[in-house]
Amino acid sequence: MKRENFGSRIGVLAAAAGSAIGLGNIWKFPYITGKNGGAAFILVYLACIALVGVPVMLAEFSLGRKVQKNAVGVFKELAPRKPWLLTGVLSVTTAFIILSFYAIIAGWVFAYIWRAGSGQLLSVQHKDIANYFGGIISSGVEPVIWTFVVIGITTSIVLFGVRKGIEKCSKVLMPLLLFILVILMIRSVTLEGAWKGLEFLFKPDFSKLTKEGFLEALGHSFYSLSLGMGIIMTYGSYVGKKENLISLTFQVIVADTLIALMAGIVIFPAVFAYGLEPSQGPGLIFVTLPAVFKSMPFGVVFETMFFVLIAIAAITSTISLMEVVVACVTEQFKIERKKATVIIALGIFLLSIPSTLSFGPWADVKILGKNFFDMFDFITSNIFLPAGGILVCLFTAWVWKSKNAIEEITSNGLYKFKGGKLFSFAIKILAPLAIGLIFIHFTGILKL
Ligand code: PHE
Repeated sequence: MKRENFGSRIGVLAAAAGSAIGLGNIWKFPYITGKNGGAAFILVYLACIALVGVPVMLAEFSLGRKVQKNAVGVFKELAPRKPWLLTGVLSVTTAFIILSFYAIIAGWVFAYIWRAGSGQLLSVQHKDIANYFGGIISSGVEPVIWTFVVIGITTSIVLFGVRKGIEKCSKVLMPLLLFILVILMIRSVTLEGAWKGLEFLFKPDFSKLTKEGFLEALGHSFYSLSLGMGIIMTYGSYVGKKENLISLTFQVIVADTLIALMAGIVIFPAVFAYGLEPSQGPGLIFVTLPAVFKSMPFGVVFETMFFVLIAIAAITSTISLMEVVVACVTEQFKIERKKATVIIALGIFLLSIPSTLSFGPWADVKILGKNFFDMFDFITSNIFLPAGGILVCLFTAWVWKSKNAIEEITSNGLYKFKGGKLFSFAIKILAPLAIGLIFIHFTGILKL
């Protein structure tokens, strides 16, 4: 079976940045920043990206490109007949499960685009919006349908393959995302009273930064860069041997971070300008922002654009999650791509149903004290992802050896890599230790 490759450098960048830029940037980053003291949290986040995000992304890209196989194939080839292939299995399983609940939140966004565009959302009174949102997500059938729509769109893109599906779409959607974001940003910072929001975002308040905040920054840097689940590895396997992985990594990371900050610049000035609460938590975009748009001239237009923006960000991430699984199943089991994609999509949809219902009819069905959605989120974000991250670092550093990784990163000496020593140190010791901290903390094995 001939393997596809990305057709252009800009295509790789759009696809990888598309995966990284997602709900994590536009939905989660602003609200955890709001909770943890604004700029103080951002500084810690940037440090985590530099010290852990960069080396782990380089390791994943280089592993994938070296072997030119899916996440399981990589470990099978570099460490034949060793249990390391389980790291690949873990990554693919994590992607499968994450997609099953990521698609639900993306589905809420789609439900909102519809309501925003028709003007329905603007007619809801501010005090009723929390109930309105609660009504949508708990209604049983509607969220299941939207989840199906999200998985359907994702499937139809992945079906077309790497170049004609993922790359082509990302090349159109990512510039569109940037365009919408810039318009919304201009709108937000030109509102009266916007500076208070900018101050909140950029003026550090170290008193609000707790130990928890540090760990949250570390965990989020991982999640936001789509690390630890074989995505970057799989995309890396479609990258040409002469591509410069150092600048690619750098560009993906800068894009991801800039978009997160820009999302903050869209949200906080607007929230402050209308005197609303910035620390709403997960409801920030679904409950607080509709109130903002309600008071804004041409609110319908800006509101619809905002939710379209989030939908784009979400879809370019869901396609990367699905691709990890599709690549693995087609290559490991020699199943035809189209067939594999449809079967996987159905599996993901079935798995998503209990999680979708856990916001409504199945709210009381609990496993280990958590509903389905929370349980899947907890297991993947706090256990599987960090475990995958540590294993990738340890494998690269101690089994494959950093020397070989550096050779691949520099395309056998074609490119200069000044941070080689730092990279080795980071994947050998620094990153596994840091990720281990998240793991220990969030699993509650040890309270730090
Ligand atoms: N990086 C994505 C985001 O910021 C999240 C994501 C996680 C995407 C895992 C794909 C896989 O939203």
